[in-house]
Amino acid sequence: MPKPSRSLTHTRREFLSLAAKASALALLPQPLLALWPSSAPAQHAGHAENARQALPLPGTEGLYGLMRPKGPITLTAAAVPGLLPATGAQMLAYGAAQDGRAYQNPILVLQKGQEFRARLVNRLAEPTIIHWHGVDGDWRQAGHPSYAVGPGEAYDYAFPVTNRAGTYWYHPHPHGLTAKQAYLGLASFFIVRDAEEEALSRELDLTLGVTDLPIVLADKRFDAQGALVYAPSKDDLSMGYLGSEVLANGQRQPGLSAATRIYRLRLLNGCTARIFNLRFLRDGRPMSFALIGNDGGLLDAPRTLEAVFLAPGERVELLLDLRGLKPGEEVTLSNAAFDSMHREDMAGMAGMENMEGMAGMSHGAGHTAPAPAGHDAHAAAGSLEEGTAYDILRIRVEREEAYDRTIPARLSSLSTAVPALPRTPPRRFELALDRHRNLWTIAGLTYDMNAAPVVVERRAPELWEFAGAKNGMPHPMHLHGYFFRVAARRGSPGQVAERAVDASGRLATDLGLKDTVLVWPGENVTVVTDFSQPAYKGEQTFLLHCHNLEHEDQGMMLNVRVK
Ligand code: C2O
Ligand code: CU
Ligand code: CU
Repeated sequence: MPKPSRSLTHTRREFLSLAAKASALALLPQPLLALWPSSAPAQHAGHAENARQALPLPGTEGLYGLMRPKGPITLTAAAVPGLLPATGAQMLAYGAAQDGRAYQNPILVLQKGQEFRARLVNRLAEPTIIHWHGVDGDWRQAGHPSYAVGPGEAYDYAFPVTNRAGTYWYHPHPHGLTAKQAYLGLASFFIVRDAEEEALSRELDLTLGVTDLPIVLADKRFDAQGALVYAPSKDDLSMGYLGSEVLANGQRQPGLSAATRIYRLRLLNGCTARIFNLRFLRDGRPMSFALIGNDGGLLDAPRTLEAVFLAPGERVELLLDLRGLKPGEEVTLSNAAFDSMHREDMAGMAGMENMEGMAGMSHGAGHTAPAPAGHDAHAAAGSLEEGTAYDILRIRVEREEAYDRTIPARLSSLSTAVPALPRTPPRRFELALDRHRNLWTIAGLTYDMNAAPVVVERRAPELWEFAGAKNGMPHPMHLHGYFFRVAARRGSPGQVAERAVDASGRLATDLGLKDTVLVWPGENVTVVTDFSQPAYKGEQTFLLHCHNLEHEDQGMMLNVRVK
């Protein structure tokens, strides 16, 4: 592999001034910690479950502030004390500044066609690199782990924004450290806008940060002092690290004060491992919403849904119409119970000679089980169970608004036809556990930075088949550099199959452009990727990996060479 270009930047003086800014920030009053709602009825005041913290909304600066780069920007990855809204704990964040405003993890807002230039400065104690998830850019821009830079070093990015409008994001990608760094806070949105998308925003009178809300959902664990804890056990590394609660934009038990109108929510699953089955509950009953976009921007038309699976790395954009509610009424964004399908426990059993062997194991007759007992391990760690029902964000209508817009039948010019399948037989990627080493593999392989086990020709579209092992668990499979179309799902478990919207078994969330697709145990998902677009110059080395970040760090990842 070619040597990454590295440069040393930032003098000690600059570093000190950054550190001074960071600690000054910790002393600022924390409007994000304001109690919600302020008008809570007195009889509820004593009930902890009714205490809600204001959902941090992206403002013009600060954490998750909306930043529209006017020129080259610098993103400094560093630990920032006092930043996490949930507990006031330290978190890792990308610090940036523009026009006298300071941002942490800025939500970057870019116009399609704009030139994007950013310098990553690493003020962490270990290597890092930024990956722009879903954003077009050649492999030097995409944050391939071979380009990770060490402490005190910097990495420069420069590329034109060629994506259609959409909710993309950015996070670290140093091999073996991605999960920890993302978990401790390094992640935010990269929102691209274009004429088509702005027309929709005008039609629905939506304003980014006010009625068009980017919300990152991420589960965390805390110690007694409220500090973030990332301490995966061996079992967690194999199954994914689950938090004890789910934060929205860094806040715990978040609440949003709303008006009687349509809101657009851009939801990102920023968990390292947790899958959501999201729905909105009103008086305990599901309330429908309109799915309008996913990983690669707007769909062709809205789809009315009552629930949606959202796996790590995936995004959905949806419209929630609150006109039917009266001030004082609430809707709760919740996780609905589902089967999290951790079938990996059975992988160990599959290796046993017969049922007697299993009986012997359960009696502890000296057998070493290759796979840990997943569900018990999750529960024992004090984590919030993945497939259980829980509330995430409470939306309370507090204002009447005269609002008479209607959701257009056509959202964009995107085609959602099943793509023409190439004649070549599909390339098959079996997603299975290597029982000898207890590692998740893709086609039997784990990551080797210097190997390119998948070589594709850029002129031909490729048909890939992800085959989820029956004795496995769900894996959200992500490809860098390109979007793909989901062609079909076969062998889907009932909870997935019942949501199919066409004869190919596709879900509503499969219809647009995808960069991450969830593959359930026993399921076969075929996707078509046109490797000729975007037309990157020269040979490329992108990544295909599982976006369960513990899996990724453990090597569930392959280089994909594009010739
Ligand atoms: Cu969002 Cu390679 O990942
Ligand atoms: Cu499990
Ligand atoms: Cu996985």
